[in-house]
Amino acid sequence: MTPVRTKGWPQWPPPATDEQRERLLRVLEGGAWGATAGGETESFATAFAESVGASYGVCTVNGTVALFLALRALGVRPGDEVIVPAYTFVASATAVVLAGARPVVADVLPDTLHLDPAAARRLAGPRSRAVMPVHLAGAPADTASLRSLGVPVVEDAAQAHGARLHGRPAGSLGDAGCFSFQSGKAMTAGEGGIVVTDDRHVYERLWSLHNVGRRIGGGWYEHPQLGWNLRMTEFQAAVLHPQLAVLEAQLEHRSARAAALAGALREVEGLEPVGVPEGTTRHTWHLAMLRYDRAAFGGHPKAAFLDAMAAEGIPLDAGYRSLSREPYTEGGPCPVAEAAEDTVVWVRQPMLMADDAAMADIGHAALVVQQAFRKRPFSR
Ligand SMILES: Cc1ncc(COP(=O)(O)O)c(C=O)c1O
Repeated sequence: MTPVRTKGWPQWPPPATDEQRERLLRVLEGGAWGATAGGETESFATAFAESVGASYGVCTVNGTVALFLALRALGVRPGDEVIVPAYTFVASATAVVLAGARPVVADVLPDTLHLDPAAARRLAGPRSRAVMPVHLAGAPADTASLRSLGVPVVEDAAQAHGARLHGRPAGSLGDAGCFSFQSGKAMTAGEGGIVVTDDRHVYERLWSLHNVGRRIGGGWYEHPQLGWNLRMTEFQAAVLHPQLAVLEAQLEHRSARAAALAGALREVEGLEPVGVPEGTTRHTWHLAMLRYDRAAFGGHPKAAFLDAMAAEGIPLDAGYRSLSREPYTEGGPCPVAEAAEDTVVWVRQPMLMADDAAMADIGHAALVVQQAFRKRPFSR
């Protein structure tokens, strides 16, 4: 049988622009390839920080390292605890381990799957040294209610370039904001990351930590503190800088597609968009997360639904395993995040760069799969 969708999906990253080619070539031929030699990285860091309403930015090798640097710059030390949500990419927790601290995993809210501030409060103790809300799927987390924990707030904004909460950009909601430029992200150079902050003291520590312990204005072989080479290259910055100008239009596009998708799914019983946190004024739609109710699909499990949708030309994603299951985390069971493993599926960002007809295909394929599943209900 012909699948519902035979057409492909948009490529990500999108095709290179002339400006990216020109900037890349300028770096290549100029010979100043490292961040300490050229000006691309510095200029991109300033432009990106400005775009999210922060005073300072430090570019890094990736988003995991951005989180590690932010934790260290804000005083997290070996033996400390950092509260992280259970439903997130593994790097939110492994960055804590990299900093020598212990990731304490808190459950997420049932409607949005974002960090539950009440769960975070229950886990907070004398060793808590930071909390890391994740702007999951590109919707900003509630950073304000985490302030009452009395520890620094490190935003994991890896999926949230351009997101806004009550009009305020993600990245400027906590003490430091960390973004990823890995290949699947809204802005990408294949790899890369940035930490932004408003605090001059934190900036100077970040800068030193990522630049082998040097001091701004100090000598090449002067290393007053421990640090590492965690710098971005000029090539990455050259590829990234032009993306700032097109980000907003891409977010607009994905917002419109997310609305079309929600419309297409209205007719599909048992497949509903996961809720968007209150106060979200700009969602980046890195992911459109959907809740799959197997009871409405003849009892078939999520894995069977994903296979059947893929056969119809709709490659959805199974999403995360709860971090509460990982051996290097603490904090106890997280029933909401654990249940999400069986019930949540994702439509990824590149698919939301397609047109409204593609969103209608997703709805149509779900109906086709549902009818087939109902005809032969699941039995063990
Ligand atoms: C929520 C989240 N945190 C952290 C990261 C880590 O970023 P990177 O892959 O650039 O190290 C990612 C993405 O990969 C992510 O999605």
